[in-house]
Parts: sequence; structure tokens; C-alpha cells
Amino acid sequence: MTLDNTAELSNEESGLSVKNLNKSFKAKKQQKAILKDLNFMIPEGQITAFLGPNGAGKTTTIKILLGLIKPSSGDIRYKGNEKYLKYTGAVLEGSRNIYWRLSAVENFEYFGALKGLNRKKSIDNGLYFLKLFDLYDKKDIDTRSLSRGQQQIVAICCALLNYPKILFLDEPTLGLDLKASEKIQLILKELSQKNKMGIFLTTHEIKIAQNISDHVIFLDKGSIIYKNKTSQIKDKAERTEYLLDFKRPLSNTELKTIRSFGQLAVDENKKYLISLDHQVSFQTFLMAVSRLPVCAMQQKSLDLESLFKRYIK
Ligand SMILES: Nc1ncnc2c1ncn2[C@@H]1O[C@H](COP(=O)(O)OP(=O)(O)OP(=O)(O)O)[C@@H](O)[C@H]1O
Ligand SMILES: [Mg+2]
Repeated sequence: MTLDNTAELSNEESGLSVKNLNKSFKAKKQQKAILKDLNFMIPEGQITAFLGPNGAGKTTTIKILLGLIKPSSGDIRYKGNEKYLKYTGAVLEGSRNIYWRLSAVENFEYFGALKGLNRKKSIDNGLYFLKLFDLYDKKDIDTRSLSRGQQQIVAICCALLNYPKILFLDEPTLGLDLKASEKIQLILKELSQKNKMGIFLTTHEIKIAQNISDHVIFLDKGSIIYKNKTSQIKDKAERTEYLLDFKRPLSNTELKTIRSFGQLAVDENKKYLISLDHQVSFQTFLMAVSRLPVCAMQQKSLDLESLFKRYIK
């Protein structure tokens, strides 16, 4: 089954460009390729969702982009500049990388100083974000006494202290309740739009990617297998798909008839899946189908999740 995956992320937008990125690790005396020739952009002012199954190489990619591990080869630049690390902020997978013996405010002071901010600016910025996340009343409590989700929020606030140009978030909503997750999504959208932040996030919650991302990149076994603007996927999602089961295989003429209504694919159970073109009238389609040896017709909606399942097998 094929869908259009030729759309490239626009190269005209400025941001972080990643070219021909490769990474191999040594395992049992052999080099194993973990990332294979990745090419993509993290455009400024937009959210890019980096999706893929466990072990695909998402965290490894982020660690390379953060300078924490060396790539085997590749070219990474922010607006043409190789020295971009000072413009980045990050929260890595599950690490909630804050000092547990320190309060949120003390963490802001510490991480702000590391980022070159003075004490006042560090605390002001940190508290501004803490307030946005409705966690202001916990500002002076040792972070080890906070819940997992609250610690995650403090870590995100620390990553935001210096308003980074590129923010990396590895599973930012993992373990958060619905309200906190929705809050983060809203704030990320706002930061990307108002502060022109380029946000690169991984998530296994496809709905989040569908809600807030401007671009999606699917990674599978170290290779990018699909990338597109989310709006174009949403376009597809608005198309109606029908799963058709016929009593016998269709003749070429019958196939031609059905193809005239949209994009046709055959699924693993030998059922025909048609994605109707926008201009097609459902009545006309139904009339045509009724003239064929149809035994069942089922409507399907195509969203990012079904697209994901289709690509990641
Ligand atoms: N230091 C290392 N040495 C050897 N192999 C490694 C190393 N770090 C990661 N890998 C391997 O690289 C692959 C990609 O791992 P990575 O953590 O990047 O996946 P991921 O896409 O983030 O997965 P998840 O969704 O589970 O977080 C895995 O097969 C992992 O075992
Ligand atoms: Mg990971």
C-alpha cells in the first residue's frame, strides 16, 4: 500500500538543518548502523514531531543534535552555523534532569547560571513558566517531594529558562495527566508561534503529534520512512476512506471504474481501500459501487495514527 510520501520539508525555512546523518555503534565486534542517512530540517517557529517505534533511533538522534554523542558522519547547522549548541534547550527521555535536593527556584538559579543568565533573570523566567504550568505554589519545595509529572514540568521550565531557539523534548508528556498534557501542548504551540522557537519532540501519543505539530517525521529502524507537513496529513484525514469487500476479484474495467473515484489500495486481507477524491459526490460513488459485486462496505477515517500504523509495520 503506498501513499504520497514525497513531500519534502521546505528548505527555505531557517532552522536547524541535518544532512546525511549516520550513526553506528559497535556491538559484538561489529559496527551496527543505528541511524541511516537522515536528512531533515527543524524549522524555527514550528513544531516537528519525531515519531517511530521503540528502538527506532529517536533518542540517539536527539543526543547527537545536542552534542552528547558524536555522529559517525553528518552535517548539522543552525542557520548555516555549526556552533549552535548555546541556542538549544532540552529535556531528555525520562531523565527529569533537575537537582532533586533543590527546589524549583534553586534549580532555575543553577541552570540559569549554566546558561549564562544572571540570578534575577533565571528566577524571573523560571517562575514565569512555572506560573504558566499552574505550579507556582510549589516553587520552594524540594523537587524530590514533587510528583513525577510535576518534576517533568520543572525540568521543562529549566529547559526554557533562556528561551532556546531550538527545544528538544523527548516524550514530554510521558506520565502526565490529561490536564497537564494539554497545558504543555498549549504552551508549546504558543512558544513556537510567539517566540519563534523550533520545537522537536518525540512522542508515542500520536494524537499529540496530530494536535500540535506542523511537521511529522517517521523514523523506523534508523531510517526516515515518511515526512510531511501535518496539515497535509490532516487533509488526507478529512478524506473519506471506504473499505470494500467484493465477492470476486475485480476485472480491469471494474478496477478502472473504481479508481476514477480516488486512490485505491489493496490491504493485506485482499480488501479494497478507496480514499475518495475531494470533489467526488458520495451518491455517484455509491451508485457505481452498487453496480459491482460488492458484499460489504465500511467507512474508515484516516488520521495520523492509522497512517503511522500503515508505515510502521
Ligand atoms: N550506546 C549505545 N550502544 C549501542 N547501541 C545503542 C546505544 N544507544 C542506543 N543504542 C541502540 O540504538 C537503537 C536506538 O535506540 P534509541 O534509544 O535511540 O531508540 P528510540 O527511538 O529513542 O526508542 P524509544 O521509543 O524506546 O525511546 C536501539 O537499538 C538501541 O539499543
Ligand atoms: Mg527514546
